[in-house]
Amino acid sequence: NRRVGLVGWRGMVGSVLMQRMREEGDFDCIDPVFFSTSNAGGQAPAWAKSSNPLLDAHDIDALRSCDIIVTAQGGDYTTAVFDTLRATGWTGHWIDAASTLRMRDDCVIILDPINRPVIDAAIDKGGRNWIGGNCTVSCMLMGVGALFKAGLVEWMTSMTYQAASGGGAQHMRELLTQFGTLHAEVGALLADPASAILDIDRGVIGKQRSLSADETRNFEVPLGGSLIPWIDKDLGGGVSREEWKAGAETNKILGRGGPSAPAIPVDGLCVRIGAMRCHSQALSLKLTRDVPLAEIEAMIAADNAWVKVVPNTREASIRDLTPVAVTGTLTIPVGRLRKLAMGPQYLGAFTVGDQLLWGAAEPLRRMLRILLN
Ligand code: HSE
Repeated sequence: NRRVGLVGWRGMVGSVLMQRMREEGDFDCIDPVFFSTSNAGGQAPAWAKSSNPLLDAHDIDALRSCDIIVTAQGGDYTTAVFDTLRATGWTGHWIDAASTLRMRDDCVIILDPINRPVIDAAIDKGGRNWIGGNCTVSCMLMGVGALFKAGLVEWMTSMTYQAASGGGAQHMRELLTQFGTLHAEVGALLADPASAILDIDRGVIGKQRSLSADETRNFEVPLGGSLIPWIDKDLGGGVSREEWKAGAETNKILGRGGPSAPAIPVDGLCVRIGAMRCHSQALSLKLTRDVPLAEIEAMIAADNAWVKVVPNTREASIRDLTPVAVTGTLTIPVGRLRKLAMGPQYLGAFTVGDQLLWGAAEPLRRMLRILLN
């Protein structure tokens, strides 16, 4: 069995990754080595049945002893060790959830149900750096990747409704704390059926506008009962880093952007909403030609084992096309599929994906399995 170093396995993405690896029996195929950035010498997780102490995740020699390293520790860790580790001549495989290395030429963004040919070509050429994509991009391509593969997309906009989990565990806690604070503020009025709704509304907005710095430490502004129309850094020119990723990463995943396969414009606005861990996206696509809707639905449904076309009815949409329906599953529903009023080449769609599964952990463990085979 190959020696696989695991870094960042206790964090939110890492915990989901460990859970999925256990469910799929991945640990039967590897010799796992657990690293820690803060608790070297401590105990490996009990379920791992490993008697070895945790190794120091900054110990380059310890890292070098691994054939494969899988990290969900985050971008700062990648920045701190990756180049140093490679500079020692280490030729193992590096599988990483962080965005740090994604756009480097010697790194492949992995989403094998969509870009297995790109991955295989890189393996043949000796590629060793495998980086998970941005969560919205991965979930979107798992949903409508079929249309890109078929060359049917002239351009696409993606308007996102992104969950708190994209910010991190603390952000999820903060959102819930805010909901609790807001409820408590007007709890007595709510309990009284005769109270005036505008009094409740006034109480809520008053509280939202006066939340303490502590209560908005992570999102900086209230999210509970509101939204935040900006995600990640300001890249200048009015574009957020999350929005830039949509176009850059989509094209890189698809192996596009060169002279033989020009980049497809993908752009839109990214918005944080008060969902827990599922990112949703409203898509508008200009197709390269007028394709009947039934054909589009069939292509999307046939693309991979996880995508599910939701009939464009009120009943199915409100039941199956929501963060609540999708959370904790690998299903990627795509619904609200219809031709838009702009003309027969314009398609509307809505898709939802668990940001921690297809958006983060799942592509990593699947890449591990590809390398082990
Ligand atoms: N940047 C994403 C978000 C998270 O903030 O929702 C993971 O790519």
